[in-house]
Amino acid sequence: MKGRILVTGGTGYIGSHTVVELQNAGYEVVIIDNLSNSNADVVDNIEKVSGIRPAFEKLDCLDFNGLDASLSQHPEIDAIIHFAAHKAVGESVAKPLMYYRNNLVSLINLLELMPKYGIRGMVFSSSCTVYGQPDTLPVTENAPVKRAESPYGNTKQINEEIVRDTVISGAPIDAILLRYFNPIGAHPSALLGELPNGIPQNLIPYLTQTAMGIREVLSVFGDDYNTPDGSCIRDFINVVDLAKAHVIAIDRILEKKQKEQVEVFNIGTGRGLSVLELIDAFEKATGVKLNYKIVGRRAGDIEQVWADPTLANRELGWKAIETIEDTLRSAWAWQLKLRERGIQ
Ligand code: UD1
Repeated sequence: MKGRILVTGGTGYIGSHTVVELQNAGYEVVIIDNLSNSNADVVDNIEKVSGIRPAFEKLDCLDFNGLDASLSQHPEIDAIIHFAAHKAVGESVAKPLMYYRNNLVSLINLLELMPKYGIRGMVFSSSCTVYGQPDTLPVTENAPVKRAESPYGNTKQINEEIVRDTVISGAPIDAILLRYFNPIGAHPSALLGELPNGIPQNLIPYLTQTAMGIREVLSVFGDDYNTPDGSCIRDFINVVDLAKAHVIAIDRILEKKQKEQVEVFNIGTGRGLSVLELIDAFEKATGVKLNYKIVGRRAGDIEQVWADPTLANRELGWKAIETIEDTLRSAWAWQLKLRERGIQ
């Protein structure tokens, strides 16, 4: 055993893939998740994929006493990967206090408890949303943080500051902030993937549900942007590649290889793809024709953003390796599997 890692939000989309990669790398994992946007059967599927059942506790990170009790029962945790958070941009505009309370207090609770249990490492799920619309592309970690477009985006910015200020205050914490671009795809086993509640807000689940006939038509939000084909451009990163970045971040903290007590890395491919290019790639990769139509812009969307991942490539030795075709095929295989399992 290389170490014991607490993964909050470990039954969620990115969390579940990360748990598997941690287990593959020899880490023991304890998951806590309130199951607000996931299902307990994900734990069974993690076990099917990795052959190891992670410890799981249904717990809300807002519950300070519950966290305290849980940590006292799982001694010798070396680091925390904190995924548990609300993440729907539109919902955050409608329910800002719910987002601020949940996303901020969860992190504060964990940071407060870490010294008590001698937990030194923290990997925090941040987002390229902190850059807003960058002035130069691809965007590096040195680009200025822009005023957030939504309460969700603001929680990511504030949480980054909370981690920094806590470390500056002298707390015995080493942290890595990973700024994800747009995670997509599913585990190659098709046993883990993205399963949003209700109508999907994000592109890929909406797209695969449309391809499946669950949704009638995919709306492409805008074709009048200042991009080559007029649709928005994103850096779509395979979720397993992204999960592996977390394992490397944990290795780096535990092996004390960090150059600073708080480090920040872009986790993206370095390649921007437009929404229309993505649809085309999906059709070519799967042979499935997609019903889509162009509609007006979505409020709050960034025109174009993609990562300069040089720092992560060089310092972490991490690189996105999966092709967009394989990634889209994995998303489709996951959707087909959900049908087979009678879930969707
Ligand atoms: C947003 C957030 C990101 C967050 C993610 C999770 C910003 C800038 N980004 O990503 O930080 O982690 O949500 O929820 O706040 N699209 C369509 N039709 C659809 C759905 C999406 O055309 O039905 C388009 C969007 O307009 C966008 C692209 O697809 O151009 C990607 O959208 P989405 O998957 O929702 O992710 P982001 O908005 O980029």
